[in-house]
Amino acid sequence: MVFKIGVLKERADGEHRVAATPETVKKFIALGAEFAVESGAGETASVSDQAYADAGATLGDRAATLAGADIVLGVQGADPATLAGIKPGAWLVAGMNPFVERTRVDGYAGLGIDALAMEFMPRITRAQSMDILSSQSNLAGYKSVLDAAAEYGRAFPMMMTAAGTISAARAFIMGVGVAGLQAIATARRLGAQVSATDVRSATREQIQSLGAKPIFVENVAGIEGEGSGGYATEMSEEYQKAQAELVSSHIAKQDIVITTALIPGRAAPRLITDAQIATMRPGSVIIDLAVESGGNVEGSIAGEVVIRHGVKIVGHRNVPSRLAADASALFARNLYNFLSAFWDKDAGRPVLPEDDEITQAIRLTQGGKVVNARLLG
Ligand code: NAI
Repeated sequence: MVFKIGVLKERADGEHRVAATPETVKKFIALGAEFAVESGAGETASVSDQAYADAGATLGDRAATLAGADIVLGVQGADPATLAGIKPGAWLVAGMNPFVERTRVDGYAGLGIDALAMEFMPRITRAQSMDILSSQSNLAGYKSVLDAAAEYGRAFPMMMTAAGTISAARAFIMGVGVAGLQAIATARRLGAQVSATDVRSATREQIQSLGAKPIFVENVAGIEGEGSGGYATEMSEEYQKAQAELVSSHIAKQDIVITTALIPGRAAPRLITDAQIATMRPGSVIIDLAVESGGNVEGSIAGEVVIRHGVKIVGHRNVPSRLAADASALFARNLYNFLSAFWDKDAGRPVLPEDDEITQAIRLTQGGKVVNARLLG
């Protein structure tokens, strides 16, 4: 029996990405798999059905794609109701948003499939090439700056013209993880004067090495800000107060602010208040990349651009999907890197060892039950 992998068209609103590209289809076929693609799956990511067919995939409707599939790939976890007919024991491999979509996870258990959540991939060297959070955040950081530039009624670079000089925009990046680093680099390339802050003191050097100015809380005891896996921890009240004061004085002079701060398993920290927004120059732009996790900015609304005190607060949803072609290419490679790393040539399929750190981290359901410690704990 040939091992079959299928990719479905994403059904979620505003989701333009696709979980396989002709490049990864070819690679899976080279491993010995058969590949099925739901017609139209790549359309919004600039991949035609013909390109998949040329790569060796079979095109068909949803039912045909699901029929007999051993693995179904997705960008977002499909609604269990749309997976009727999937083979029990099949794997569904996607970004599952497991805490928010908890009832879906129960649905996957009910279907008897193994749901594997790519965003639970552990942050270990071996898994770096499989990390969808990194690949997608990097693009979101880049796009956030372009979105800011598009909303901003002034130019980014300093310009000396015959009609006089335009001064450079000042951009402040709050949260210097993967997205923030790319935002700094992009804003610099556009000619802005860039400053940045984070709670993790290790980012200070990274900010400087990109040619931006670090803005850091000083003289508060016990701050490293870094927990397990390189993620931030929630900070003390003393720290939060010092940070708020520092931000207040700095933000009033900024034209562009991009916030990216997240704390795993918690609501995003509030970094900017309405009172602080009121001190900014009219026409300034704030991009809240954390808007879907509760928001870093008071008054930001997911899916909307709101104006407060003359300042535009941008809350685009699903920013990686706004660069669907590249985001899909990287997402698809993350999936391929994961599955190929576990490919068992003799079995002709990937095999996840029970005792592997990756298996334990990402497997949500198996044998009709929810098995993931983070969901059960
Ligand atoms: P994230 O998306 O969880 O958070 C974004 C940034 O916000 C982080 O830098 C965090 O420190 C910061 N932040 C949180 N609370 C804040 C606050 N109150 N004020 C200001 N900033 C705040 O982080 P991301 O982008 O996932 O990266 C975190 C770290 O993990 C980085 O050092 C990165 O290099 C590392 N990493 C390691 C990987 C691996 O080893 N496989 C893969 C990806 C990232």
